[in-house]
Amino acid sequence: MLDGVFQSGEPYIGRNLPVSLQREGEDRLDERFINVIYQPIFDANGAVTGIFVDGFDVTHQKRAEDQLQSLNHTLEQRVEQRTHELRSALLDLEKETLERETAQVALRQAQKMEALGNLTGGVAHDFNNLLQVVSGNLQLLANDISGNLRAEQRLENALAGVARGAKLASQLLAFGRRQPLEPKVVNVRKLIQNMDDMLRRALGEEIELETIVSGGLWNTLIDPGQLENAILNLAINARDAMEGRGRLTIETANSILDDDYARLHEDVRPGQYVLVAVTDTGAGISPDIIEHILEPFFSTKTEGKGSGLGLSMVYGFLKQSGGHLKIYSEVGHGTTMKLYMPRTMQTEDSLADANAIPAKGGTETVLVVEDDDAVREISVALLTDLGYRVLKAHDAQSAFAIVNSGIPIDLLFTDVVMPGPMRSTELARRAKALLPDMAVLYTSGYTENSIVHGGRLDAGVELLSKPYTRDALARKVRHVLSNAQQHKIAVERLEREERPSVLKSQVQRHTALRVLVVEDEPLILMSTIDMVEELGHTVHEAKSAEVALGLVETQSIDVLLTDVGLPGISGIDLAQRVRERWPNVRIVFASGDDSAKAASGIVDADQLSKPFTIDSLRAVLAEAS
Ligand SMILES: Nc1ncnc2c1ncn2[C@@H]1O[C@H](COP(=O)(O)OP(=O)(O)OP(=O)(O)O)[C@@H](O)[C@H]1O
Ligand SMILES: [Mg+2]
Repeated sequence: MLDGVFQSGEPYIGRNLPVSLQREGEDRLDERFINVIYQPIFDANGAVTGIFVDGFDVTHQKRAEDQLQSLNHTLEQRVEQRTHELRSALLDLEKETLERETAQVALRQAQKMEALGNLTGGVAHDFNNLLQVVSGNLQLLANDISGNLRAEQRLENALAGVARGAKLASQLLAFGRRQPLEPKVVNVRKLIQNMDDMLRRALGEEIELETIVSGGLWNTLIDPGQLENAILNLAINARDAMEGRGRLTIETANSILDDDYARLHEDVRPGQYVLVAVTDTGAGISPDIIEHILEPFFSTKTEGKGSGLGLSMVYGFLKQSGGHLKIYSEVGHGTTMKLYMPRTMQTEDSLADANAIPAKGGTETVLVVEDDDAVREISVALLTDLGYRVLKAHDAQSAFAIVNSGIPIDLLFTDVVMPGPMRSTELARRAKALLPDMAVLYTSGYTENSIVHGGRLDAGVELLSKPYTRDALARKVRHVLSNAQQHKIAVERLEREERPSVLKSQVQRHTALRVLVVEDEPLILMSTIDMVEELGHTVHEAKSAEVALGLVETQSIDVLLTDVGLPGISGIDLAQRVRERWPNVRIVFASGDDSAKAASGIVDADQLSKPFTIDSLRAVLAEAS
């Protein structure tokens, strides 16, 4: 180095130079660090004549620096590590809090539902017992009054009321997890496939129905009838949420709910489940509503449209069956309702398959009209085999000849499209003119949608799509025949109602009034009409304000007796409109509370509190006359 400085004339500055020194009396080399300066000394000519050398040992300093540096480094590392640790601890904490909160919310919700369930279940139970007493006595009474047509009619009304009460009670029992269940080993795939027809009918043509059923689906132990009910309920909710337009997807899958899931959901046991998910593309459910939708009687639908018991029943039924209901919803996008039902290892119960239930036959007379010989012979054979008396024709004209011959026929079973001058619809119409009680069932290779909704047949007609199985034929024929039977009974009842009242002349003591009764509840409407008639007045009836407004245009009336809560225009609105155009018509509000009169602003309106007696009705009407 000295030589270098001497030759170049450039100074040399070395810092922290490592040198190995051997101290006197010691063998090993000692590593030291030094700083040195070699400064050339010049003469007058600029030649180097000497070198100034300065140097000192900086080992201590260097070691201290090194240490500091490594300390710095480790410190940085440790800070980084700590930060990381802290961050993940925070995340854990957040997650834990969230989990705890979710679990707490779930617990609170479950406790609320449990309490509500116990309450409703208990009430429904007692209610059912009371209904039992009422209906039992009513039925006994039937013997005592037989022959008295009016009394029989009232008894029938009362029994219809009891039936409605019983239905309500059974819905409440379902929510309260106390309904009698008949669990069977069910393969849900088949059950859903069997529901296809019913679902399509319930949904209407503007809603697309997609069923995605996975193979190898596990079995579950569940009441198949109630499960169908539950799925139908969800489908109807979905339809309402989509306002009749959209897509409904029903999916089935095997599903495992793990410990994590169970921890977050009160009352869920981890394990294997069969999942049915019902998804719609509807309005979705906002968060403040979603916590209430399982409660009985919670409904956002207009009065008369929803009882608020649908989801309550689904929920109670699943709980009672060891299952679980999970709701996902996004406002504006749609809703998924997931039904989890516990897996069973048992093999499928043959009863669970609706198709396996032996289809019932009958002994009625069926007229089969079909132009295709092979198809006709098969359906004739099937129906004969089911016990029916079968007549056959190969076109509409010859079928009509049979009808015209006067042979009693219970069911006309006809192909929709046939050659010949007479169309099947014309045949049905003309045949029904001769035999009004006869039922009609169409069959066609077209699907129901293309035929009925495509406008070729009236809505409400019955259609069996070809090809059909023996069971499908049997079921459909029974269904159509029982409908016709029911219709017949209803018509007979109607005719009986129209019979003039014997009592009328006896009570006709004061001026007869023309009373327009507006009431949407059929049972209340019926009994009100009865009472008004019994008091010797003339009755016009309307089930809605819209109908009533149409009526007052053409009929002159003295009294408007109206319910307040009507499906469309309210009773108050109706009263105001009537008062405006026909100021002489007396207004009577029949309602559960007495706010209607004040709300209407009609100062001379009268008020009948429900439930009202014939005496209070008499008093109100007496004022009007
Ligand atoms: N798929 C859905 N999309 C949006 N909202 C829904 C859906 N299903 C249920 N809801 C909401 O939950 C409420 C309660 O439903 P629930 O089936 O219990 O009663 P409902 O349909 O109103 O009456 P009911 O079923 O007794 O005729 C509904 O009124 C509606 O607000
Ligand atoms: Mg519903």
